[in-house]
Amino acid sequence: MTDTKNTSVLTTSTGSPVDDNQNSVTAGEYGPVLLQDFHLIDKLAHFDRERIPERVVHAKGAGAWGYFEVTHDVTKFCKAKVFETVGKRTPVFTRFSTVGGEKGSADTERDPRGFAVKFYTEEGNWDMVGNNTPVFFIRDPIKFPDFIHTQKRNPQTNLKCANMFWDFLSQVPESAHQVTILFSDRGTPDGYRRMNGYSSHTFKWVNEQGEAFWVKLHFKTDSGIKNFTASEADALKSTNPDYATEDLFKHIAQGGSASWTLNVQVMPINDGYKYRWNIFDVTKVWPHADYPLIPVGKLVLNRNPENYFAETEQSAFSPSHLVPGMEPSLDKMLQGRLFSYPDTHRHRLGANYDQIPVNCPYRARVSNNQRDGPMCVNGNQGSRVNYEPTTFHGYKVRPETKLSTQRVTGLVGRFKPAHPNDDFSQPGALFRKVMSDKDKANTIGNIVGHIKGANRDIQERQVRIFYKCDAEYGSKIATALGFPANRSNL
Ligand code: NDP
Ligand code: HEM
Repeated sequence: MTDTKNTSVLTTSTGSPVDDNQNSVTAGEYGPVLLQDFHLIDKLAHFDRERIPERVVHAKGAGAWGYFEVTHDVTKFCKAKVFETVGKRTPVFTRFSTVGGEKGSADTERDPRGFAVKFYTEEGNWDMVGNNTPVFFIRDPIKFPDFIHTQKRNPQTNLKCANMFWDFLSQVPESAHQVTILFSDRGTPDGYRRMNGYSSHTFKWVNEQGEAFWVKLHFKTDSGIKNFTASEADALKSTNPDYATEDLFKHIAQGGSASWTLNVQVMPINDGYKYRWNIFDVTKVWPHADYPLIPVGKLVLNRNPENYFAETEQSAFSPSHLVPGMEPSLDKMLQGRLFSYPDTHRHRLGANYDQIPVNCPYRARVSNNQRDGPMCVNGNQGSRVNYEPTTFHGYKVRPETKLSTQRVTGLVGRFKPAHPNDDFSQPGALFRKVMSDKDKANTIGNIVGHIKGANRDIQERQVRIFYKCDAEYGSKIATALGFPANRSNL
């Protein structure tokens, strides 16, 4: 809408000039309309197909372009090209989002925020698909569809439902950590620029010598954390439901940039199997005192998309989009996500989703034996042979990019977590040690304001979880809900 001087000729979608864009071709002055009006039918038929499925989660979002610049040498941990030299810049596209709401939902809903960054590296695209929280609600992917159903609308009433929400969480105690963060004011950040981003999962980095490390990534906002209180966030839902989208766009349009410092926590491989928490459980953090943050570089966003649909809506991120030097860990949730994202992209955007310009790994060259499919627009790799092994002109593999090896043993089965892995001490530490008195009061008020809509038995079960995290935390919520303060023996 910014280009008011463009005087190019209006055409049909096949490029023919249009003589009149206001009057359909009719038989006589009054009609009927004739089938021969290609421009009309072309226009209506395309309009009929304007909507693609919205993302099943993270449907509402905003994106921006920018770059990542290495400020510190981490090549002793990771051989990925993106970290090759201090000062190196790699282009990025980033999309922020809320999780549970529909594409038209309000930006200031209480929800985690998605934080997805696509790095266009010379060895393919690396996607960092994280949230603004360092942990998640569940630790097994088999629970994810059920969990998301409870955050969305009731199947009968089509209303948000406090019973569904808390019924699930109160029976999944590993959610207590994420619930505590979500109901602190970090659950309603002031826009997308003033929040952190986390890989949440443990990943594996591998250096040039083949040595591997467990890592967690932290993008810390350079603008400082800023959150809304519940009442400020609620007010914005009606006065400016697109607050975060507008804030990001206008800030960049006015010449501003948004930036984050990427830090990494690094754990030697063998420590990972002995650590006091299961490092493959995404409901846990690694305390900074044990594994301090090591600075890596800056993520800078400084250019708005030219077209929302083409760039932001069609962007497709996946934690399985990795590059040499970065590998998944054993985290079950992460393993489920490795499948789920490309699968949903094939459904949402089609099998050739990676040919869409925003997704195209344009700094590498895609060379493989995949062909055809809907919307194949990149020449389909021409006349090149499309099978292997071949005595014709096939592709070479690069054996030096092979995965690091890892021993796995055990019985095949459906296992509950066996590792000592309590679900309560980390949220308890967050409440007791990290939160100020104001943070605590707001967190309790936000929880009570939401859970009061659920049935008493559900409230009681959830209060017991808060009590296990911290006695003061549980007691205060119990009292506010009219239960006796000590719920430890419920
Ligand atoms: P530290 O004191 O070293 O770190 C505390 C962290 O908590 C800081 O990163 C801070 O982020 C963050 N924080 C502050 N307020 C909130 C909030 N309302 N919700 C979520 N995070 C918040 O302590 P530890 O490393 O020992 O961790 C203690 C607890 O802090 C953990 O159990 C976890 O709940 C939380 N935490 C820990 C992180 C980690 O990776 N170790 C990361 C984020 C949270 P900031 O610097 O941006 O203010
Ligand atoms: C989006 C699945 C857990 C972060 C999505 C989408 C699906 C999905 C299907 C829609 C993608 C699209 O249509 O483009 C899952 C499953 C999970 C899981 C199955 C668990 C097993 C997580 C976790 C995080 C996360 C733990 C963060 C650490 C995101 C983000 C997006 C997203 C940021 C939006 C990406 C974008 O901006 O396009 N997820 N998710 N998800 N998910 Fe997850």
